[in-house]
Amino acid sequence: MLARRRDLAGGIGSHLLNDNPGTMKGVILAGGTGSRLHPLTRITNKHLLPLYDRPMINYGIEALVGAGVGEIMLVTGGTHAGEFLRLLGNGHEFGIDRLFYAYQEKAGGIAEALGLAEKFVAGDRCVVLLADNVFERSLRPCVEAFRKQKSGARVVLSRESDRAHLCNLGVAEFDGNHRIARIIEKPEQPPSDFAVTGVYFYDESVWRVLPELKVSGRGELEITDVNNWYLDHSQMEYDVLDGFWGDAGESIPAYHAVGDFVRAHGANKES
Ligand code: DAU
Repeated sequence: MLARRRDLAGGIGSHLLNDNPGTMKGVILAGGTGSRLHPLTRITNKHLLPLYDRPMINYGIEALVGAGVGEIMLVTGGTHAGEFLRLLGNGHEFGIDRLFYAYQEKAGGIAEALGLAEKFVAGDRCVVLLADNVFERSLRPCVEAFRKQKSGARVVLSRESDRAHLCNLGVAEFDGNHRIARIIEKPEQPPSDFAVTGVYFYDESVWRVLPELKVSGRGELEITDVNNWYLDHSQMEYDVLDGFWGDAGESIPAYHAVGDFVRAHGANKES
């Protein structure tokens, strides 16, 4: 079993179960500047760099398709956007039923990139994946859990004991009942050992939240502010991953560590 599923009430009560799950659309975010991987990213988009035997973006596509998400929008930007079309085409070769593309004109943040997918997602729910995130095990249990969730959002946590590493991530702060109280983006003092990975699930409320966001100190619309909106409204549940999780875009050493991991162990495994 990939994930220990929990929710804010400590278990999925019948009032939280969704009787009519509907379609879930996938949004893969592959924009940004990739500045932490300079000079590699001066010549291509970060998500097209190889990780062992495939471009980085392939792992994210496989993660969604393997979890049963067949309608996907890829959001990217910059001068190499056309290369994604060359790699992925209409997506059929990768098991995607329908593949859409959106272009982000400048790297205004993860939440800004997500906003470009509003018309694609339309009234459905979505799973959002940062294209530099790589998972050892299938995301299917998380997708299934969100299908059953009546409303709100869902984040996926990964235990990280390296405090210095946590300072580069979003980190969950818990209350006394194992509920997430708040997510702190790039904390100086990490409030727990649980990093927020780059896979997020949202219901249709997300499109009301995005226009309310304020630009952060680093000049971006932050996905953590979206998640904290759901937490403020007691509409957030979470999973905790078993198995490896890596952010290959975090630094050159992280990029190589993720490549070494997938070479030795593979990714997106069902068991
Ligand atoms: O990897 C997990 C972490 O990802 C989380 O723990 C953090 O809470 C979350 O904010 C995010 O942090 P990063 O600093 O790693 O985000 P980064 O700026 O590297 O962006 C991650 C991906 O999002 C990137 O691979 C492409 C996409 N992106 C990013 C920006 C800034 C876009 O598509 N457009 C953008 O404008």
